[in-house]
Amino acid sequence: MLSYQHLYHAGNAADVHKHALLAWALDYLTRKDKPLTYLETHAGRGLYNLAAVEALKTSEAAQGVNRLAQKFTNAHPYARALADTRTRFGASAYPGSPLIAASLLRDTDVLHLAELHPGEHAHLDATLTPFGAKVLHEDGWQMAISRTPPTPRRGLMLIDPSWEVKTDYETAPKRLAQIHKRWNVGIVMLWYPVLSDGRQRSMTRALTQSIPDILLHEVSFPPARPGHGMVGSGLAVINPPYGFSEEAAHISALFDNKEF
Ligand SMILES: C[S@@+](CC[C@H](N)C(=O)[O-])C[C@H]1O[C@@H](n2cnc3c(N)ncnc32)[C@H](O)[C@@H]1O
Repeated sequence: MLSYQHLYHAGNAADVHKHALLAWALDYLTRKDKPLTYLETHAGRGLYNLAAVEALKTSEAAQGVNRLAQKFTNAHPYARALADTRTRFGASAYPGSPLIAASLLRDTDVLHLAELHPGEHAHLDATLTPFGAKVLHEDGWQMAISRTPPTPRRGLMLIDPSWEVKTDYETAPKRLAQIHKRWNVGIVMLWYPVLSDGRQRSMTRALTQSIPDILLHEVSFPPARPGHGMVGSGLAVINPPYGFSEEAAHISALFDNKEF
């Protein structure tokens, strides 16, 4: 039984970290005039209303997009995707990762999006199918295997679990190793929370042991509220595109200030 709903957390500091680097990587890939595949295993609903009761209940966007968006230039792909979403859906709209991808990719690119929660899947279908995405109501961990290697073979997979299923911490390293073996040219990005109790560390250790070249990038921020366990955001990236480390350092600098 899945209970997580990303609407409570949309636009938080972790979303800014993940979405800014995802947008940068997709923009980089579109500089080459060759089609690509974007796969997402845990897609969420794709479009969030930051004025919704659920989003206002936690107000996590205040520490995230509402504070950090102004630090990006208008030309940054994350800023472009934000502006595109607000133009299409209104000033309080925030793009989930599938909509960021749809906003930056081209008609020749292919999008496969999996979401298991029936309600979230219905929203995703309504928002992303008009963009030509293939919206799947299926288990993302299985989809990651059944749809790799994809056609076109160039491309990127985002794996962004809610981590509410505790076995995800053991599943992720094994599944990433399998995906990498099946699709050795694919860029694979796994998002994970950095927790105050360090629970993610055994997973990141397993990742670096099985995929020695994997790049780990983490940013820190204060907990969204007292006692909240998440104190940072992590991305593990297989086959990072050229220039990714420099961009990640740039993103780190946006988080690295005393205003938090
Ligand atoms: C963190 S949210 C995704 C947010 C989205 N990637 C974004 O950045 O906009 C994780 C989503 O995964 C879904 N989910 C959980 N387990 C899943 C599974 N095994 N397969 C597919 N989706 C799953 C949840 O319902 C939730 O909507």
